Amino acid sequence: MGAQVIIGEEAATRKDEELEGSGASAQELITLNHVHKIYQMGDVEIHALRGVSLHIKPGEFVAIMGASGSGKSTTMNILGCLDKPTKGHYYLEGQDVSKLTKDELADIRNRKIGFVFQGFNLLARTTAIENVELPLLYLGAKHSERIKRATECLELVGLGQRLHNMPNQLSGGQQQRVAIARALVNQPSIILADEPTGNLDSRTSIEVMGVFQYLNRERGITVALVTHEPDIAQYAKRVVVFKDGKIKRDYLVDDPRSASEELESLPPVDVDETEDDE
Ligand SMILES: Nc1ncnc2c1ncn2[C@@H]1O[C@H](COP(=O)(O)OP(=O)(O)OP(=O)(O)O)[C@@H](O)[C@H]1O
Ligand SMILES: [Mg+2]
Repeated sequence: MGAQVIIGEEAATRKDEELEGSGASAQELITLNHVHKIYQMGDVEIHALRGVSLHIKPGEFVAIMGASGSGKSTTMNILGCLDKPTKGHYYLEGQDVSKLTKDELADIRNRKIGFVFQGFNLLARTTAIENVELPLLYLGAKHSERIKRATECLELVGLGQRLHNMPNQLSGGQQQRVAIARALVNQPSIILADEPTGNLDSRTSIEVMGVFQYLNRERGITVALVTHEPDIAQYAKRVVVFKDGKIKRDYLVDDPRSASEELESLPPVDVDETEDDE
């Protein structure tokens, strides 16, 4: 992977000093200022977000939690430039994106955001490497460049041996790692994941969290992920809890769990998913 800011730990320890501030700052990656989102359903207004202010610096690893309907996905959609605030401002790397047109948002999304979804959202009948290449195709990258970067990203998530497998030839955890590689390939400013372990068993969830931790700790990549599971949130460095469209708590995790250490202490599985069976 190319250059990514590697200031992870430092940013995380400095960050708690000013979680409450409301102005956008140059060193912030994401700034939500008093964001409201109102969905109009016929005559009914649904107030999904009621004044959310959130600041994320480069190198952070944030878990977003909260009850169903509390506004987590709405927030992720706004952060990912899939949707716009009804009121308030969203600054991404200092740029106010709340007022951009649909096309401008799509452009920012392609260049700055990597998405990972609960259901993987891979194209069937399309190999791992072709799935990962896709965002680069939209950016107009040359074939050789696409192959090179897609291969690098698949290697980064431990799937260097699986470049030409179709999704249905991969386990759930491997498919999610392909999705993570696809999210990485455009060298985004942030990876946003909405319940990335929601469809996975507990061991596979730890493996996938291990990939996020590796990318965050070793590569300095900023990650924000939604989870319902308190155990999963403990792999992050910071937890933000939503309630009724507002942030109820925002705290640093004292001693985040380490997925790689936990995986070492688990009994081995019969087939090592990361290697070709031989
Ligand atoms: N497109 C939409 N149109 C109308 N209402 C919506 C829309 N999307 C979300 N909502 C409503 O906004 C509120 C917040 O929804 P959101 O999807 O953000 O919740 P969530 O925290 O992600 O919940 P879950 O944990 O169930 O995924 C809910 O009341 C929901 O019904
Ligand atoms: Mg949701």
